[in-house]
Amino acid sequence: MGTSEAVLQVLSGANPLLFNSATCSGNLDSTFPSRFLYKYTKKRVSRYKRLFNCSSTLQSDLGLNRLKGLGYGLSGCREVNRLQLLSCKCQQAESVSGLTAEDGNGTWFVDSAKKLNLNSVANTPNILEFQDVQQFEQEKKSFTSNGAAGTTIDSVSKATVDCLEDEAWNLLRDSMVYYCGSPIGTIAANDPTSSNVLNYDQVFIRDFIPSGIAFLLKGEYDIVRNFILHTLQLQSWEKTMDCHSPGQGLMPASFKVRTVPLDGDDSATEEVLDPDFGEAAIGRVAPVDSGLWWIILLRAYGKCSGDLSVQERIDVQTGIKMILKLCLADGFDMFPTLLVTDGSCMIDRRMGIHGHPLEIQALFYSALLCAREMLAPEDGSADLIRALNNRLVALSFHIREYYWIDLRKLNEIYRYKTEEYSYDAVNKFNIYPDQIPPWLVEWMPNKGGYLIGNLQPAHMDFRFFSLGNIWSIVNGLATRDQSHAILDLMEAKWADLVADMPLKICYPALEGQEWQIITGSDPKNTPWSYHNAGSWPTLLWQMNRPEIAARAVQVAEKRLSRDKWPEYYDTKRARFIGKQAQLFQTWSIAGYLVSKILLADPSAAKILTTEEDSELVNAFSCMISANPRRKRGRKNLNQTYII
Ligand code: GLC
Repeated sequence: MGTSEAVLQVLSGANPLLFNSATCSGNLDSTFPSRFLYKYTKKRVSRYKRLFNCSSTLQSDLGLNRLKGLGYGLSGCREVNRLQLLSCKCQQAESVSGLTAEDGNGTWFVDSAKKLNLNSVANTPNILEFQDVQQFEQEKKSFTSNGAAGTTIDSVSKATVDCLEDEAWNLLRDSMVYYCGSPIGTIAANDPTSSNVLNYDQVFIRDFIPSGIAFLLKGEYDIVRNFILHTLQLQSWEKTMDCHSPGQGLMPASFKVRTVPLDGDDSATEEVLDPDFGEAAIGRVAPVDSGLWWIILLRAYGKCSGDLSVQERIDVQTGIKMILKLCLADGFDMFPTLLVTDGSCMIDRRMGIHGHPLEIQALFYSALLCAREMLAPEDGSADLIRALNNRLVALSFHIREYYWIDLRKLNEIYRYKTEEYSYDAVNKFNIYPDQIPPWLVEWMPNKGGYLIGNLQPAHMDFRFFSLGNIWSIVNGLATRDQSHAILDLMEAKWADLVADMPLKICYPALEGQEWQIITGSDPKNTPWSYHNAGSWPTLLWQMNRPEIAARAVQVAEKRLSRDKWPEYYDTKRARFIGKQAQLFQTWSIAGYLVSKILLADPSAAKILTTEEDSELVNAFSCMISANPRRKRGRKNLNQTYII
């Protein structure tokens, strides 16, 4: 029995309440007939508050909003001033949902071979081979097992690690948030001693992803299913800032379960879901990443549980389309990358990432691939699927070609001609070589490379952003060679990117005048702190070369529990717990657990990876051969992509 299974059993024995799977299933039932939903979408429902047990009203109202969002609506008008709370009469919330942990006994676990399939370069030698982990473990053993003393140390440390995992699972379960008696997410941070919780008492969409993956990999599907369906309902919310509304497909950054007095009955209360789309968030930033993560999690749920009925539901299909429609809408852009404002993702305050930040592009690419897999073929969505396919090809070409940097490319930029007015300019974005920052000249290793943080006319943001780079490996946005090179660089730059705690959110920090101008002298984002090159344990689960993941986990294990699972660490080497870091930060805990599960069973990562698609590869290779710069230069091009 694996450690975590043992934990599950111990926990369920010790505290059966934690496994209460009661849910307001009437509302979220996957067998809810689709015609019923359609029928009600024709009515315009103007209730100010919706009672949860009136599930038909609730769903029909949402369906109406969805169809309006997709352009099928009766008018462009929106109902305003509605009480934006989704309500639930808790007194009656005792029904039990259909899916339990026993149902899905790991149907995602298809491949018994011990190959790490964290990404599509899974079968490549030298990278991502599970044997590497075993070898690493072997080396570790022979290092410690000099006779009996070594063996003792080994078993002591194993027991410590087991304890740590137990503790992490306990904390993760303690962070679960219930709505009408059913788990629907995890609170961002759960420090009982903290008085400064800000909005960390909410369920954040992005923060729930590692929690959701941990629960899925544990076979506990209810919480993920509930999360997916409830956040979907929030998608259609009316949201305004000074009379302006963002697109209908926007997903909230976070939501809170509130208990409020029941209308007309002073003696009773009800629970309501209260979302924040950025209209209350510090800086009023819209979370572009929420919808992208939601699509990624939806697919992972289907893959892992085998329950495809959720993604097949009409309201879920409509939700996917609304997100896509928002992302694929025509605008003024010349680039296939998504143009977003600063703070639109994990880095949710001003850090100079506005424009086309890598993190959003990598998540966008994943979401497009996942959505394509899940969208039901139907006449009405042919245009959307065509637009999606075109975007996938253009996006992967753009990122691979223009975001990539290594020593050779750096030297190429160093010698760039500028002001090229022509269709086949080499320096298309008119990058002035003087922009190459002095730190990078020293920092770029001979072997390795990475995708830069952002690309704009006459501007390359050369900072290394971890999430964007790693996620580009996971989803195959980076070519096979590029994926190897990114991981090589991470190994070569271990002291800078990992040091005493994995993993730097970006590297290097903005300092001095640059920090003043770019962050607006943000006291929370001082150099080597928080978003400004702080270290975030939650990124641990995404380190996808087993031997480096195993090393990183070992580094983290030494401190995480002792330091009370902080949100982030400060200083160049991550020596201090972050200045304003929350403690018992749930995604630090979940990130650790997911990385442990994936290391123990690399094939589990299949729920996050996407298959190579021959149509996409063909389209991509046509683009490569049509590119003038490529024609002049490299060989064997059509072997490098691994979409
Ligand atoms: C901070 C992080 C953001 C996270 C939130 C809740 O604002 O920047 O990424 O979602 O805290 O943990």
